[in-house]
Amino acid sequence: MMDGTFQDNDIDKVVAADRAHVWHHLSQHKPYESTDPRVIVEGKGMRVWDQHGKEHLDAVSGGVWTVNVGYGREEIANAVRDQLIKLNYFAGSAGSIPGAMFSEKLLSKMPGLSRVYYCNSGSEANEKAFKMVRQIAHKRHGGRKHKILYRERDYHGTTIGCLSAGGQDERNAQYGPFAPGFVSVPHCLEYRAQWDLAGEDYGRAAADAIEEVILAEGPDTVGALCLEPVTAGGGVIPPPPGYWPRVQEICRKYDILLHIDEVVCGVGRTGTWFGYQQYGVEPDFVTMAKGVASGYAAIACCVTTEAVFDMFKEDADDPLDYFRDISTFGGCTAGPAAALENMAIIERESLLENCTAMGDYMLDRLGGLMDRHKVVGDVRGKGLFLGAELVTDRGSKDPVPEAQVKAVVADCMAQGVIIGATNRSLPGFNNTLTFSPALIATRHDIDRIVDAVDGALGRVFD
Ligand SMILES: Cc1ncc(COP(=O)(O)O)c(C=O)c1O
Repeated sequence: MMDGTFQDNDIDKVVAADRAHVWHHLSQHKPYESTDPRVIVEGKGMRVWDQHGKEHLDAVSGGVWTVNVGYGREEIANAVRDQLIKLNYFAGSAGSIPGAMFSEKLLSKMPGLSRVYYCNSGSEANEKAFKMVRQIAHKRHGGRKHKILYRERDYHGTTIGCLSAGGQDERNAQYGPFAPGFVSVPHCLEYRAQWDLAGEDYGRAAADAIEEVILAEGPDTVGALCLEPVTAGGGVIPPPPGYWPRVQEICRKYDILLHIDEVVCGVGRTGTWFGYQQYGVEPDFVTMAKGVASGYAAIACCVTTEAVFDMFKEDADDPLDYFRDISTFGGCTAGPAAALENMAIIERESLLENCTAMGDYMLDRLGGLMDRHKVVGDVRGKGLFLGAELVTDRGSKDPVPEAQVKAVVADCMAQGVIIGATNRSLPGFNNTLTFSPALIATRHDIDRIVDAVDGALGRVFD
């Protein structure tokens, strides 16, 4: 599937330039002194090709659960091109045609929410929500109700503000000191339960633990609770039953705004438009990025209720009354133009339904690996957002050494299948294989992915 443009490029020059000048994300560069970094050249559907022309089945949607509708979508490219020629940019203090049209389309999938603030990364969208919470504290509560709760194992982005709300100690290490006013609450991974309870009892206990933190901090100091609907990079953790209803109840009881970080789950990943919709949650803020335009253009959104929005237009004579924030590239029109087309594809091709069906199938097939490999301690997930936790022993649940997890990933890569693993998240616990194939995945694709993992586990551990 390599086309002429690729052949005409001198790929050796590309790789040499990359090695000489590009600082890759989340990467140790020492090995690149003796080996070439991987350069991804082209993609189509579920597949990508590297600099050697080698084909890979991408089971992680661009590495970080992003390319939800798959590669090579000409209809998105055309919509972006047409929009760029008409108007590429104007600051978000003004409106734009795709911005207005996408907001309407998006909100039609989010009953109860009514305002979209555009920006261009998941981190930035979360920062917007944090700033709104802080400003509401000042406007309504004399600055006191400013604390933001976050959960162990959750990740909300890369900025110092977002790392301050970061529940992954390895991501945070060496980047402090962090911003004050962020407080952690316990994780809700039943496989590594902190209480001797199961199912709904565990879920309620994990939520009750949030209430304990609120009471210890003082409810009048806590402005918001920020949670991923299903924790992503912290180990792919769907909430236990009973968790979300209790979380919602606690937020209402103490007048705490609920901020759901849908940067990974948003726009289809779990089989509903948003992850929170799996659990009947009614959030005050929803932030999203990655899958919103499947990576065809940078776009992120901080979506709020009208009640939140109303707090920022109470007194037109007060120069500090409104949300004094700007995101330069939040005014790029390519993002909402791509996002509109992305949603149209999901609807036209019934990709939510496919995600649910293929997710169930994949969970089942991954579950089958537990019968074949003792090292698979737990498989879990929702929709096409799945993880398999590797342990040395099912009784002790000790995580396998990270080198072995990496060996499984590398073995799959050698077989032409790209899978992921939790990466620099929790010290000693980078032991979960992660899967997030595009929502277009077929049974055949899933079989290939799981068969590759099966083979890799056999070679690395048996
Ligand atoms: C749950 C979650 N929130 C926020 C972010 C940050 O998004 P971005 O990298 O676009 O800033 C990420 C990135 O992986 C994420 O997984």
